[in-house]
Amino acid sequence: MSLTGKHILSSDLFSRDALEQLFELADVLTPVARGRQVTRVLEGAVMASLFFEASTRTRLSCESAFLRLGGGVTSTTGAEVMSIAKGESLADTSRVVSGYCDLIVMRHPETSAVHEFAAATNVPVINGGNGAGEHPTQALLDMFNLHQEFARTGRIMDGRRLALVGDLRHGRTVHSLMKLVSRYEDLTIVCVAPQSLGMPAELLEFVERRGHRIELSDDPETGLKDADLVYSTRLQTERFADRPVPYSDAFRIDKALVSRVCRADAVIMHPLPRDGRPGSNDLATDLNDDPRLAIFRQTDAGIPMRMALFASVLGVADAVRGSLSPATWYRPDYTGPEDAPFYRNVAS
Ligand code: NCD
Repeated sequence: MSLTGKHILSSDLFSRDALEQLFELADVLTPVARGRQVTRVLEGAVMASLFFEASTRTRLSCESAFLRLGGGVTSTTGAEVMSIAKGESLADTSRVVSGYCDLIVMRHPETSAVHEFAAATNVPVINGGNGAGEHPTQALLDMFNLHQEFARTGRIMDGRRLALVGDLRHGRTVHSLMKLVSRYEDLTIVCVAPQSLGMPAELLEFVERRGHRIELSDDPETGLKDADLVYSTRLQTERFADRPVPYSDAFRIDKALVSRVCRADAVIMHPLPRDGRPGSNDLATDLNDDPRLAIFRQTDAGIPMRMALFASVLGVADAVRGSLSPATWYRPDYTGPEDAPFYRNVAS
């Protein structure tokens, strides 16, 4: 299946073959993402990034990925600075912006907005997060990183036990992840959440229809046991107005819990941001020196993965391999002080 010219609104678009092709291309692009090599396959192309909701990782890494491919970026953040604040419709905005660029990345608090936007243009629209709906590019980078983490510890995706933890009802990253993991075989997916924050029923049914086992738990102490992956998420307080939520400190995924219940080779991921304030019930910072914590390898994986996606959607994937040349500027050997053991084998 060719991705050229496609809108990327849901992760269900990607077959297993399409995923594997994207991962291969992301591997080739990793030295470019790390500032070791250069490519100009998108020289002259322009991406517009329109973020109507808070973002650090998605906006900056999409922009960085497009720039590293040789393209240019124009961007705006917040509806209040756009003509939407003067009553302009999403359809008009979409048509106008399409005349300025070759690809649009968009984030919006309403689930339907990205679909309205895509319906009004032939320029590919990439969903950078639509309310509590989906976040397909996050799921792609999560899967790319998870493959690497499993490979490093001698495992493959098929047959694994995956625990998704936290606000599974409003967390769009886990919705897109459910659809992507369902492309693999023989998985057990443990959804660990308070009942009122459980995974939407249609996603549970979707994954079961593709032949996987679902287990539900409201207690991380039992839900995380024997899991190959612990994918922790933040309580999405901005998505439920004034409703008290039963979210106890049992959902603080900290060193004590992980040492008590997790496998020695468990992979611990989180889409970030995590709530790092003292007393918050999220992935705790006392795990920062635990080699099982993949969160920064996960964010790093966002650049090559998004580069692979943009190159494919704009039809230049086949030109990438022949386009690479060495970079000449200074780069530190490892991006973070603790990265050395993990990046020793990455091409430089
Ligand atoms: C998430 C998002 O915005 O959906 N972050 C991200 O893009 N990496 C997760 C969140 O906000 O909790």
